[in-house]
Amino acid sequence: MNLSRNDPCWCGSGQKWKKCHYPELGPNIEPSSARHYFKKWKILLKTPEQIAGIRRACRLTAWILQETCKQAKEGVTTEELNTIAHRLHIENKASPAPLGYGNPPYPKSICTSLNEVICHGIPDQRPLKKGDIVNIDVSAYFEGYFGDSSAMVMIGEVSEEKKRVVDVARESLYRSIAILKPGILLSAIGQTIEEYASSHNCSVVNQFVGHGIGVHFHEAPDVPHHYNDLQIPLVEGMTFTIEPMINAGVRTAVFDADGWTARTADGLPSAQWEHTILITRNGHEILTEWE
Ligand code: MF3
Ligand code: CO
Repeated sequence: MNLSRNDPCWCGSGQKWKKCHYPELGPNIEPSSARHYFKKWKILLKTPEQIAGIRRACRLTAWILQETCKQAKEGVTTEELNTIAHRLHIENKASPAPLGYGNPPYPKSICTSLNEVICHGIPDQRPLKKGDIVNIDVSAYFEGYFGDSSAMVMIGEVSEEKKRVVDVARESLYRSIAILKPGILLSAIGQTIEEYASSHNCSVVNQFVGHGIGVHFHEAPDVPHHYNDLQIPLVEGMTFTIEPMINAGVRTAVFDADGWTARTADGLPSAQWEHTILITRNGHEILTEWE
């Protein structure tokens, strides 16, 4: 296929080829590696311009997440958290990627997953209570790019078991981020997370994965948090999420009739933390880190 400069780029970004991967990526990317990653795995290696846009979307995502987490207190409903987060998107000329996403269309602007809910909990009228743990997941679309991040909030004193899943989920995320650099295999992420979680008496959900992100909300590759055999070498310009879901009991998720809410099969607590990551020349950058 012979592209001309004004044709849409082969990578699917929707931009013109000359504004996207023409003639190749930035100075530090092997010639043709972007084409190779796309052909073999459908992975979009990002151009410096795309990286700058994704960084801005991620910064806004991280800020909205932090501001929303500050409001998560006893007596506040998850619907009120949704309203706060929605307003922060709109006031900053962003839109919440979850709203209307998927099938059935996701009905709210953020996910709020309480206690035994693993992920994709839908905000509602239930007030937060002492002893709850809640995951707040924000995914902002800003000036053409996506960011995705989530964090846990503990409401008052929580049980030992809940504290354990919250801490193990966070630590497993940061341990898996610490190893990231070009040449590391994608499978090392799941290995790091599952080794850590299982040695702390927790299980790792394997029915959901992290994902490429940036130009689209969910891109290749899948990023499993459990043991796997994905032999994809990380390379500069990859952007993806890591979002381990860690359970106190069994790993299995069961689904509510709403088509979204995923709960632990045994009703024991679950926790999740998420960042969007960029692979750089020498290592990585956490794009959704907030001071
Ligand atoms: N971080 C979550 C994910 O990537 C965000 C889900 S938003 C939803 O799955 F709309 F898909 F629920
Ligand atoms: Co995500």
